[in-house]
Amino acid sequence: MYEQVSHSLLNQILDEIKPEIRKRNLLRFYTRLGANFYAIHSLFIHLYGDREDFLQQMVKLVEVLAMRYIERSEELEALDIERELNHNWFLDQKWVAMAFYAEGFAGDLKGVRNKCGYLSELGINMLHIMPMMKCPPGASDGGYAISDFRDIDERYGSIDDLHDLAENLRKRDMLLTLDVVVNHTSDQHDWAMRAKQGEKKFQDFYYCFPDRDVPDMFEETLPEVFPETSPGNFVWNEESQRWVMSVFNDYQWDLNYSNPTVFIEMIDIILFWANRGADVIRLDAVAFLWKKIGTTSQNEREAHLILQLMKDCCQVTAPGVVFIAEAIVTPTEIIKYFGEDAVIAKECEIAYNATLMALLWDSVATKNTKLLTQGIKNLPTKLNRATWLNYIRCHDDIGLGFDDRDIVASGYQPATHRKFLLDYFTGNYDNSIARGVPFGHNLKTGDARISGSLASLVGLESALKIGDQKMINDAIKMITLLHGMILSFGGIPLLYYGDEIGTLNDDSYLLDESKASDTRWIHRPRIDWERAELRYHNGSVENRIFTALQKLIAVRKTIHAFADFNNRELVEVDNDHLFVFIRNHPEHQREEVLVVANFDANPQHLNLLALRKRGQLSFMQLRDLVTGDSPAIFKDDLVVPPYSFYWLSDLHTSAAF
Ligand code: GLC
Repeated sequence: MYEQVSHSLLNQILDEIKPEIRKRNLLRFYTRLGANFYAIHSLFIHLYGDREDFLQQMVKLVEVLAMRYIERSEELEALDIERELNHNWFLDQKWVAMAFYAEGFAGDLKGVRNKCGYLSELGINMLHIMPMMKCPPGASDGGYAISDFRDIDERYGSIDDLHDLAENLRKRDMLLTLDVVVNHTSDQHDWAMRAKQGEKKFQDFYYCFPDRDVPDMFEETLPEVFPETSPGNFVWNEESQRWVMSVFNDYQWDLNYSNPTVFIEMIDIILFWANRGADVIRLDAVAFLWKKIGTTSQNEREAHLILQLMKDCCQVTAPGVVFIAEAIVTPTEIIKYFGEDAVIAKECEIAYNATLMALLWDSVATKNTKLLTQGIKNLPTKLNRATWLNYIRCHDDIGLGFDDRDIVASGYQPATHRKFLLDYFTGNYDNSIARGVPFGHNLKTGDARISGSLASLVGLESALKIGDQKMINDAIKMITLLHGMILSFGGIPLLYYGDEIGTLNDDSYLLDESKASDTRWIHRPRIDWERAELRYHNGSVENRIFTALQKLIAVRKTIHAFADFNNRELVEVDNDHLFVFIRNHPEHQREEVLVVANFDANPQHLNLLALRKRGQLSFMQLRDLVTGDSPAIFKDDLVVPPYSFYWLSDLHTSAAF
């Protein structure tokens, strides 16, 4: 948009910009800057317009964008241009992701490079390597307490190793996802160290207060993220005689985004990693970016404005890079991280689908799909050119963040139902076979979340312990079923390392003082590569899970209807154990796929007559796209075996596949 005030400011900035930038031929940069400048200016003025140094800050911002653009390699710029042309590139069904710690998965970054073959074998082509920037030794919240944003921790390798890995991935058409921990730094970061020494400039990077007045006002409404290990939201720093805001752990200091220098530093860091080859950047804990007294300081409007500004800036310098929002908040709030008041994604193109994740776990425990169907029915429609990251497990706990109204509409009482889920997954409910452990138990509110590996939570650990074949089979079926859901729901499926070979809980974290109080380490394994070899051993647990997932992934990639264009239609059926939806493709209308999943221990049936009346499919002669077989149909009822699912297409139309 052309707007006079913005453009006269842009001219002024171009006059004031460093001579070394001015002299260069930056045709594409200026084209993109011109296109985005109105948005950048409007957001920047909204956030920082009342400052006297507003113009200098804007000049600084544009300089950073230009410097990082100049630094961007030709290869990455070519990729930018390709992705600008094919701007829906990340919505394709071909992408399948896996998240892992470099250390736990393969020792270090060189190890990760050596394991690319393993990932390809499974069908993974998007890697999310958990944070590996420099961290203090000891507790670092699994890498989320960073002491140097521009260096790799020597425990995992070097910038050169990352460069080699990124180059290798590009050759394999695999994507690299890196974290940028935008909300906080370690208290050992240079900025924090200088704040401790009393430097005002750096105290302004954080929320520092000489007494409890302001902290106490904040505490009235701030919830606690880690109530067991880090109660309260402020920590006393003896050296500077200041209370410092630390919403997560005491050693993670929250950055103050009402200071434009913090914003400019952070966009510089984001672009630094974009230039090191990140295709996707996961922005950590984005719900917390803006703090306001009298609120929970989560999901504030300004947090969204900051993300929009980050996106607009990134688009000027590195438009091929997309963002993931890590915002584990209620469904109505999550959806806003794609961009508020927009048609196409304007903040983060990708967001964690914590809603689907928690709902799937509800169905595992209850063996019915009442809440799952209800929750998905109320999942707001997302913007175009935006997609979900669908996952079952990740490095974090499982929060039971359902909408209470959905719980009630499913016939439960919210507090009792959450208590049931917690008891069930921690093995405290009747004959529960789940072997999870509680996380973040809050004595004041009674809330708790759940840690545990996928395999242990679905009962594989208990089954193996007693050597019960039926239980083992059921657990493997459940693991496959859950993956069948994230692979077909619409969005990028994100597998979690170790789940592909049925990795169980690992208690060894209890021996490490820096980890023992954080139960999430129970599901952050070190891969046993000898066990992984058993994937070639016919009939082993590892073989059965690995080959099942490998097959599903391969089939997913061939189904156009699984690309994400908001092309999912939930089907409410009169069987509470089934989760049913249809996927279609706007350009290949005949390629509808009917997904039917049975979460119950008994076979269930679905009446097809009602379905025939809708959509393109006649559902006369169905074929399962995974096995190629026709499913059992009795009269007009489709029979779905226990803990199983189908991806069904119509035999008449599927010739087009
Ligand atoms: C994110 C991470 C989590 C971490 C927190 C604080 O939620 O996923 O592991 O503890 O941010 O950085």
